[in-house]
Amino acid sequence: MPHNTDLLAVAQAAAAEAGAFLKYNIGNVKNIERKQGEETNLVTEIDKASERLIIDIVRRTYPDHDILGEESGAHDARSEYRWIIDPLDGTTNYTHGLPFFCVTIGVEHRGEIVAGAVFDPVAGEMFTATKGGGAFLNGLPIRVSSSAVLIESLLVTGFPYNVKENPGRVTERFVAFLPLAQGIRRLGSAALDLAYVACGRLDGYWEVFLHPWDKAAGVLLVKEAGGTVTNFSGDERDIIHDPNTLATNGRIHGAMLDVIKRT
Ligand code: IPD
Ligand code: CA
Ligand code: CA
Repeated sequence: MPHNTDLLAVAQAAAAEAGAFLKYNIGNVKNIERKQGEETNLVTEIDKASERLIIDIVRRTYPDHDILGEESGAHDARSEYRWIIDPLDGTTNYTHGLPFFCVTIGVEHRGEIVAGAVFDPVAGEMFTATKGGGAFLNGLPIRVSSSAVLIESLLVTGFPYNVKENPGRVTERFVAFLPLAQGIRRLGSAALDLAYVACGRLDGYWEVFLHPWDKAAGVLLVKEAGGTVTNFSGDERDIIHDPNTLATNGRIHGAMLDVIKRT
């Protein structure tokens, strides 16, 4: 049975290689497609090539493990382990040449995330965590912030691709937080949003309709850095598969949950 640190070493190597590939190709996107008929949900040949590269690296060491990749779906081998991969988180930024995107890989063992890596190749920042082993940025330990009140907190959120169907549902919550927080950001990469909560640059993050590949690694980062991650009812069970996500430094979790519950 592989140790969590063995799994992390492979996740990290794959994220580093795919990240370098993304960085090298920024500005070279040739083929932009729309996903599932959604006008603004983009996928490029770079997303797909990055995923192939990651899967090849994982398979070299763990040929029998299951894989869930955003672009190629589920590769089921009935293993206890599953690699959950987003080969390019922040595709919209990437297609515009906006240098805020990452590779994110989480490793699940019997339904629990045990290792995760989020790599931002532009900043050269590798965020890593193993279950019970802490969270790190380029090898140095990270902690969530100590901000205890919303008015001293910098929050971040994201808007789902289906926002056009009912924009009010998303904006109502945004408007409710606006006067209460120190500031709100929309950066365009859910995995980096979570990594930034983990290292204390941001204090709280909420978003609806995330997929497991957006947050598998990021949720582990926040928890291992001392933060809290739940759904919008305050429940932390099976959070990877819950579309709604609230991740905070823990101290402002209750206050954010209150705002979410009344919107
Ligand atoms: C998206 C980004 C974005 C978030 C969306 C995600 P993608 O991932 O993380 O910040 O708001 O919900 O789907 O499509 O760039 O991999
Ligand atoms: Ca994503
Ligand atoms: Ca993606």
